[in-house]
Amino acid sequence: MIPILAYLSARNPDRDHAAAAAPLLRLLRRTGAFEVDVVTDASRLADLSHHRVVFAATDDGPLGAEEEQALSDWVRQGGGLVAAHGTLAAWRENRLIRELAGFAPADRVDSTELVVRPAGPHPVVDRLDDEFFVTAELQLASDGIPPDATALLNVPWRYSSQVAALARPAGDGRFLYVGIGGGPAAYASVSFLQFLYRSIAFGAGQAPARVFGVGLAGYGAIARDHGRQLGEVAGLELRGVSDLAPGRRAQAEGDFGVAVHETVDGLLADPAVEVVVVGTPPNTHAEIVLGALAAGKHVVCEKPFALRLSDVDQMLAAARAAERTLTVYQSRRWDPDFVALRQTVESGSIGRAFHLESFIGGYGHPCSYWHTHEPISGGTIYDWGSHYIDWTLLLFKEQVATVSAVAQDLVWRDVTNSDHVNIDLRFADGSQASFLHSDIASALKPKWYLLATAGGVVGDWRRESVLTRGTMDELVEDRLAPADSPARLTVFRPNGEGGVAEEVLALPRRVRNAFYRNLADHLLLGEPLSVPPEDARRNIAVMEAATHSIAQGGRPVRVGA
Ligand SMILES: NC(=O)c1ccc[n+]([C@@H]2O[C@H](COP(=O)([O-])OP(=O)(O)OC[C@H]3O[C@@H](n4cnc5c(N)ncnc54)[C@H](O)[C@@H]3O)[C@@H](O)[C@H]2O)c1
Repeated sequence: MIPILAYLSARNPDRDHAAAAAPLLRLLRRTGAFEVDVVTDASRLADLSHHRVVFAATDDGPLGAEEEQALSDWVRQGGGLVAAHGTLAAWRENRLIRELAGFAPADRVDSTELVVRPAGPHPVVDRLDDEFFVTAELQLASDGIPPDATALLNVPWRYSSQVAALARPAGDGRFLYVGIGGGPAAYASVSFLQFLYRSIAFGAGQAPARVFGVGLAGYGAIARDHGRQLGEVAGLELRGVSDLAPGRRAQAEGDFGVAVHETVDGLLADPAVEVVVVGTPPNTHAEIVLGALAAGKHVVCEKPFALRLSDVDQMLAAARAAERTLTVYQSRRWDPDFVALRQTVESGSIGRAFHLESFIGGYGHPCSYWHTHEPISGGTIYDWGSHYIDWTLLLFKEQVATVSAVAQDLVWRDVTNSDHVNIDLRFADGSQASFLHSDIASALKPKWYLLATAGGVVGDWRRESVLTRGTMDELVEDRLAPADSPARLTVFRPNGEGGVAEEVLALPRRVRNAFYRNLADHLLLGEPLSVPPEDARRNIAVMEAATHSIAQGGRPVRVGA
């Protein structure tokens, strides 16, 4: 555990730095890598022998001579100081602190929305969003920053680009300046929080310049996208592929020019591969994941995690024993329509969600590949269900009490997956959620129909067409499958006068490479995983219970997940 001293003292009674910093303190504790002492008394800066890094956010100054000397000596002997928000300005009369910084910050600008652009490459800003918005006060560092300082954040400021955060070596230690902040609104930005977390980790001497080698076990339909993302994320590098099929291996060689292996064992034997992405058909996941963990690799498993909960539990235990990261590629958590739905629910603006109906499907002959063969796929539930149940359990935080499900096989005889499956979840607080997957649905239900105590949200399918010109100049129309367009989300809120107001939500931009950026952040910097394997375990617990319920004619099955 890295010991941090968070000095969060407010002179001005309007400023509660400690309360504002609560999300940062939560993030630091959640990683399990930091032990945080929060202090408001400057005298605590006089003895830092037990701490590796100081995060200071204060408008209280100057420091007394003893604290100033002790802090400066400690930094020069290897400590890390992150001077955030107004700290440097509050300590401007402290010559030794000014010497650590090598510059004086500009005057404070009142809180406004800032466009923040990381200035990389640098371990503190690698993989952050290219640009993000923070509503905060600003104290620029631009004028006369020392030549040995590295800019970390720039902001466009009145038709110029200005430095708002920097890092500078100071003897054997590290000094970091963050001129953005001042109140709770700044800490509400996820990217800014991540930046502060990284600054503290860097101040503590963590500067992993290393790259993790990644191998893909299975090079199927989805694998090229994994490979592309790995090429775009700093800190990860594709180093090998294994696939049983010669054609797939040749494809991988052509796409990425990496080493290819006939068997997964060949891939696991390569020491340059430290992380294995398991992208083989679902019934093979558990065995390959366990083999990879036994070989000392970190593992990303494609969804569904496995077909049986007992396999999941074995994988979780093996990852714990091997002290390796295990996560599941729940890639649709970042779908813009789901992100907007989740934000709406979590904001509390429509009250407490208590009823959800979700749907995927249409009327069409199922494919004749393994996806529709139950012994390999797990059945109709496990394909889209892996995403829909994951979404449901992110929206409803309560324990699942019971699951009941029915399946109908009425039309397509040439496949073993069912034509039509409906799952009902009951949560401990009485809330309910259902998921319908139907390949014989001539009429579509909305993607989501969600009711909450003070509003509701409907996600309607959009039927978008892509129009292009053919080779003979004729118009070519390509209709996207409904699942390929984000749903149109409408929020309904009673207006208190007997009517209901409707609002069509603007969807956020898709965050690029979100899963793999987080994986690199986790492996390199210990940031929390976006998809803890326990989340994916809950998904499998529900899907397995639904499978049992189907076998028992729809009887409710207790889950406790
Ligand atoms: N996250 C998503 O949105 C998403 C999207 C598509 C697929 N997937 C998942 O990805 C996985 C793969 O799906 P796909 O559509 O790419 O399948 P696919 O059949 O196209 O690819 C699987 C590949 O694995 C290879 N393979 C099978 N067994 C192997 C073994 N023991 N060793 C090495 N290679 C082996 C096959 O030759 C094939 O090339 C599935 O779990 C699927 O559910 C997830």
